[in-house]
Amino acid sequence: MTAKEKPVSQQDTAEKSFTLTNDQTGENWKLPVKEGTAGPPVIDIRSLYADTGHFTMDPSFTSTGSCKSRLTFIDGEEGILMHRGYSIQELTEQSSFLEVSYLLLYGDLPTVEQLKGFHKKITYHTMVNEQIHYFFRGFRRDAHPMAIMCGVVGALSAFYHDSLDIWDPRQRDISAQRLIAKMPTLSAMTYKYSMGQPFMYPRNDLNYAENFLYMCFGVPAEPYEVNPIHARAIDNIFILHADHEQNASTSTVRLAGSSQANPFACIASGIASLWGPAHGGANQAVLEMLAEIGSVDNIPEYIAKAKDKDDPFRLMGFGHRVYKNRDPRATVLRDSAHEVLHDLGIDNDPTLELAMALEKIALEDEYFVDRKLFPNVDFYSGIILRALGFPSTMFPVLFALARTVGWISQWKEMIEEPSLRIGRPRQLYTGPAARPYVPIDGRA
Ligand code: SDX
Repeated sequence: MTAKEKPVSQQDTAEKSFTLTNDQTGENWKLPVKEGTAGPPVIDIRSLYADTGHFTMDPSFTSTGSCKSRLTFIDGEEGILMHRGYSIQELTEQSSFLEVSYLLLYGDLPTVEQLKGFHKKITYHTMVNEQIHYFFRGFRRDAHPMAIMCGVVGALSAFYHDSLDIWDPRQRDISAQRLIAKMPTLSAMTYKYSMGQPFMYPRNDLNYAENFLYMCFGVPAEPYEVNPIHARAIDNIFILHADHEQNASTSTVRLAGSSQANPFACIASGIASLWGPAHGGANQAVLEMLAEIGSVDNIPEYIAKAKDKDDPFRLMGFGHRVYKNRDPRATVLRDSAHEVLHDLGIDNDPTLELAMALEKIALEDEYFVDRKLFPNVDFYSGIILRALGFPSTMFPVLFALARTVGWISQWKEMIEEPSLRIGRPRQLYTGPAARPYVPIDGRA
């Protein structure tokens, strides 16, 4: 692990500071610097407006930290991702999604007994209220599954009135368990609904990933045997998507939660944000892009389009706000794609071949090298999910399913902060100066 660890004594101390000077008046303000366990220190500016009468501006938050967090650390230069100090490589090699969920929620890896108890709790919350089946009936069969998920996950707050008190630790815990447990069931229901097939009820004899595959691909007419390699691949994909610091959808959940909205509504807001093709919707867009490129011969034309400032086309699955080196998740997923396709007897999948050719050509092109545009988590995930039988519209749903534990763990960490306040950014106003109302017959 190359993350530069600092002794605890240096953490969170205000002994360091920056001085801000107003060049017009010569006034100076001392801004405290805070340091964490690893990663860049922060300049604490919360008193800046009160002290200076000025706001800061950082429209897409390239230099702004929104919170302190103990969950996930990313080092974009070194390509490091760790959860509560454990590297994503070791977690995908040795852990399971439920164990990583426990780690994110409660802060450490569970003992045998703790994991058994957590597994039992999640298992016994996998069913959804039968009334929710009627919500699905209102959607067109060809509705995008993310549209359905936004609706039905938000609607969970219409059913679980016994776990909406965000100040009660027991209710926070039950809500987290219900969300982690029910996301696979609801996700599978969106898939079944799009196929016109009956919903499959969860089974308590299957583990988390097996149960999800069973609810998606099983049918009442015959027994369904879960392929253990598929289950392991899905569990790995869930681990890789579990949490990722303060990304757009997690920041959406935190901002929604800061108004003290209930956890189900907050997770629904995260689903809505994740759906965007610049974020979690990219895995679907990657497959659609590869289908459009069609063959290796066409790659140069699309590389040129991606570089053309007048063309809105972007190489989907490439680039990342934080990773300016390889996205460690993409590396794990690329290896997993080979393994899953090999186990499926698909040794020369044209889509995977095309993806690898595209990656090679792009990473030899100075436009991508200069901008440090490497493949991200979304570049390979879709190839695996398609090989497992999922349509591309389901890819963001699986991303949301896995990210729910990250969202709810970040939400829980925020609610448990003693200094919780509603998030309320300001602005630089550039609209018209004050002017009198003009009655309609006086307007040109
Ligand atoms: C996820 O934040 C997270 O952690 C997200 C995530 C998570 O786990 O939560 O990791 C999941 O969202 C992964 C990203 C999935 N999105 C895509 O694959 C969509 C394609 N990539 C991009 O649109 C883009 O790279 C972003 C959105 C991922 C990052 O955007 P930034 O950081 O705002 O970068 P930018 O748009 O300012 O681009 C910088 C330069 C620009 O060129 P110049 O103006 O400097 O000449 O790089 C270019 C961009 O035009 N660029 C691309 C490109 N991505 C950036 N050019 C072509 N193809 C691309 N994919």
